[in-house]
Amino acid sequence: MALSEQEAQKASPLTDRFGRRHTYLRISVTDRCNLRCQYCMPAEGIQWIERKDLLSFEEIERVVRVLAGAGVSKVRITGGEPTVRRGIENLIGSIAKIDGIKELAMTTNGTTLRKMAQAYRDAGLTHINVSIDSFKPERFKEITRTDKIDTVLEGIECAVNAGFESVKINVVAMKGINDDELVDFVDFAKVRPINVRFIEFMPFDGNEWSKDRMFTYREMLAVVNQKHEIEPIERRPSQVAKDFKIVGGLGTVSFVTSMTEDFCSDCNRIRLTATGEFKPCLFMLPIVSVRDRMRNGCDDSQVLDAVQESLGQKWKGHPGAENLIKLKNASMIQIGG
Ligand code: GTP
Ligand code: 5AD
Ligand code: SF4
Repeated sequence: MALSEQEAQKASPLTDRFGRRHTYLRISVTDRCNLRCQYCMPAEGIQWIERKDLLSFEEIERVVRVLAGAGVSKVRITGGEPTVRRGIENLIGSIAKIDGIKELAMTTNGTTLRKMAQAYRDAGLTHINVSIDSFKPERFKEITRTDKIDTVLEGIECAVNAGFESVKINVVAMKGINDDELVDFVDFAKVRPINVRFIEFMPFDGNEWSKDRMFTYREMLAVVNQKHEIEPIERRPSQVAKDFKIVGGLGTVSFVTSMTEDFCSDCNRIRLTATGEFKPCLFMLPIVSVRDRMRNGCDDSQVLDAVQESLGQKWKGHPGAENLIKLKNASMIQIGG
């Protein structure tokens, strides 16, 4: 049964009306990217955020400190591409020092890891997720509209050697685009201590989503099962992925099934946009700007009020794929996943 907003917030400051405790903060630090992935970045471009409108590192750090005091223990830095924001290792360093933050993760396209993986790890980053959707140079180029595949592959090896608690590879699986490469990705994870995750393609503004391009969890599982023996691993609460052990291998394989089997019922995520608004769900528009409050001199309790106001409006779950495309949302490059 749904709780009243007051009952929920009494139970824990970051509990919503459906009793979900929010312990995981995803922070987008920029809308810029050095790749141009078709499923993420609209062909017509986007209205870029001006520098002055971005939260500063000090402002981000303040929000994290307040939310850590209210129970947030995991932070993920996203973009656009987070590593194109100058000095990102300094932000990593300062968030890592905040009391209560046990896991500090980043999702990246991997293009800076060759040079920077060890520096991110040394600054305090604990977990890293790298996106790559094809091992075929021509196809990689088509998808990302750049030819940085070797840089990304070398970057992944550097991440594996840098001593992170986990290295995950995110593959957005799309029919007619990379659906013939699943087995190659599993082979890649078989000989490395990494987790490869196949993600169901989701609709966002300008990404030309169609039901026909969506490769479903069940279909992907059937393909992987033809070549590899995999065994399910028990799900931990709030996990987006269904994990499997690769029998006889070093790594694991997972499926992120947002479109066919969502995980909204125990969602623990809240998002902070690059311009300082709280977004209670990946598919909801931002609600409440904490940036404007902070720039007007608010105190920490008003920062907490902002996130609570946003969580107060969080829905029970997002609608199915065909209705999602009718909703207004930003582009993935602006949201950061
Ligand atoms: P871990 O913390 O390692 O499990 O990573 P993560 O899955 O939380 O983050 P990542 O940035 O690697 O995202 C992987 C995929 O999950 C992307 O396609 C995201 O858009 C998607 N994702 C992340 N959070 C949510 C969410 O709250 N709802 C849905 N539907 N998808 C999400
Ligand atoms: N559907 C599913 N996942 C997506 N990502 C980007 N766009 C989409 C989409 N339309 C993934 C990227 C990245 C993560 C943050 O989100 O691959 O790893
Ligand atoms: Fe850049 Fe990631 Fe979007 Fe590709 S998916 S354009 S790498 S932000």
